[in-house]
Formats: sequence, C-alpha cells, structure tokens
Amino acid sequence: MKQPIGFFDSGVGGLSLLPAVSAILPHEDIYYLADEAFSPYGDKTHKEILERARIITRKLLAFECKLIVLACNTATTQVINQLRKEFSVPFVGIEPAIKPAALTTQTGVVGVLATKGTLNSQLFHKSCLEHGSKIQLIEQIGTGLVRCVESNKINDPATFTLLKSYLNPMIDQDMDTLVLGCTHYPFLLPVIKKIIPSHVQIIDNSKAVAKQIKRRLVEQDLCESSTSSSTHSYFSSATKSNLGRFVNQPINYLPL
Ligand code: DGL
Repeated sequence: MKQPIGFFDSGVGGLSLLPAVSAILPHEDIYYLADEAFSPYGDKTHKEILERARIITRKLLAFECKLIVLACNTATTQVINQLRKEFSVPFVGIEPAIKPAALTTQTGVVGVLATKGTLNSQLFHKSCLEHGSKIQLIEQIGTGLVRCVESNKINDPATFTLLKSYLNPMIDQDMDTLVLGCTHYPFLLPVIKKIIPSHVQIIDNSKAVAKQIKRRLVEQDLCESSTSSSTHSYFSSATKSNLGRFVNQPINYLPL
C-alpha cells in the first residue's frame, strides 16, 4: 500500500531506528517528524507529552501515514496506551529492553540509562515487575545526554565526563548488561564503548522494533507491494533543525 510509515521523536534520536527498519522494509516510504520545537521530552509532564503526541498523530494521519512509530522511549512509555485508545491507526513504540537484558545478564546486574520520563512511567515499572524481578536493575537518568547529541557535542570532553559519571557507578556494581533506554543514546555509542569494559553487553532493540513494524504491517495487510525504491521525507517543528547534520536531505519546516 503506497502510504508512508510515520515516525516521530523529540529530535534526531528516532533516526537511530531507521537503518534497521530500512534493512527489512526497503520499499516502505518513511515520514520522519522531529518535534524539535518541544525538545527534550524527557523532562516534560505526561499531559504535555500526550498533548504533543496527539497533535503529531493528527498531522501524520493528514499525511496519510498507515502506521505510526513512536521512535522515542519517553513518548512510548508515557502515552502509547492512550494514543491506542484514541486513534485507530496502528502504533508501534520502543521501550527499554528489560526482557532481553534479563535473558542476557550473567552477573544479574543490568544498567538502564534513560530519561526521567521513561524511568518514572507506569509502563516501565510494569516491565520491570514482569521481566526484571530476578535481576538487579540500576536505573540512571541520563540528564543532559539528549542535549549533547542534539547540539553536536558527542565528542566533547564534557560529554565523556558526563557519561562516565553515569556509567562508572554501574560498572562498580558489576553490571554486565547495559540498556540504552533512549533513542538518542545509540549516537553516543563510540563514547560509551570507551568507558565500559568490553565484556559489558549493550542491548540494541532497533531490530526488534523493525520486526514489530513489519509484523503489524503484515497483520493488517498494509505492506508496500511494489519493489520501487522508497523515499524518506524529513520534517521538523523547529525553524532551525538538527536533522540536517544526520541526514543528507532537505528538512521541511512543519509548525505544530
Ligand atoms: N529520544 C527520546 C527517547 O527515546 C526522547 C528524549 C528526550 O527528548 O528527552 O526517550
């Protein structure tokens, strides 16, 4: 079905999901919307995020998106259930990968780095109860990390120092598995890898999200049948967008 899949995040973070999605769904058109006028989501209230997610959903539906991906752990854990009640379009989200981490860890100690909004959400607590009751979870709010990615400071010494202050206490407690619970954080991987010991496994759930998108499209008979090449279109709610540093395409301004 020649309709795009809509993605949204507060900024560039959700782009970290696209390689896995394009790998298994190469013919699907993608509309990516970065809500940079309202970034970051991590410190916003449930009500604020829900309001924003409703506006974005309506906009993506106006673009005839056939499925909407909340390419953001904060938005998913805060509002996906509510969106599913209000809109009939299928939604796929991303949340911290507690279950795979619990199956991976040998020491029984798992670190979770995520935003305040994600770590405080009911969905995250439910997932910890369901899948994390037999392991020790060390939760750490990644204050400031989204800004480091958005403002092109990934390789700054200050980013290294900040990440070290979050990761070292986990390493000291014998963490052998790290969950990156924010889609912005995979962009920090080169720095994270300099800090954590090589035996620490990092859980990447982008492939699982991509498979879930495919599953939902197949279930609902929404897959693109033509084998023509796909187009990706990028939108930002801010006049000045950071997306252009990550994708080599024009960024369309979309006031929301
Ligand atoms: N990339 C998002 C997430 O996965 C949003 C982070 C933010 O805006 O604070 O949580």
